[in-house]
Amino acid sequence: MEIKTKDLEDFWKTLEKKNNIYLIGFMGAGKTTVGRILSSNIGAVLVDMDLEIEKQQGVAISQIFEEQGEPYFRAIETEMLRDISQRSGQVVSTGGGIVIKDENWDIMKESGVTVYLKASIETLFNRVKHKTTRPLLNVDDPYTKAKELFESRRELYEKSDIILDREGLEPEEVAEAIVKEIEA
Ligand code: S3P
Repeated sequence: MEIKTKDLEDFWKTLEKKNNIYLIGFMGAGKTTVGRILSSNIGAVLVDMDLEIEKQQGVAISQIFEEQGEPYFRAIETEMLRDISQRSGQVVSTGGGIVIKDENWDIMKESGVTVYLKASIETLFNRVKHKTTRPLLNVDDPYTKAKELFESRRELYEKSDIILDREGLEPEEVAEAIVKEIEA
């Protein structure tokens, strides 16, 4: 999608102080892919939180969960979010569990607009089932675990400023819909 410079200036002005876009959603929602397209469309920096954490810690997320445990991961995730929130002009692709801490919501709401990429658990699970990079689904019955996790977080995801049902949409269409929603 081609956006003119003048339009882009107006676009960023509509965000005013909330100068970041936080992409939120369950594992498999497409936060990273949509983030890549959206950031390039609107001339923003893309920050992928899981990647940043892996770079900072020097190990894969799954290894952090395995060796240090989930509470440790959640602590560094919040620390990373706080650092990111000090900057602006970014599209931030968050990890699926960012919604579980009130503190994370405070940081995101203060420094940006939150966009929930919504999809059904069936779609989400189909997209992650063959991957080994999600430590929380590394169990005997990953579908049941994913469904339980999803249900327990459903209301939290819906706290986002914008809820975008991405079922049946290509990543490009999702990125375009986000721009339209923010402008509206
Ligand atoms: C998690 C989602 C993952 C990653 C970690 C925990 C979660 O990110 O942060 O495995 O709690 O849902 P993605 O949503 O990018 O897979």
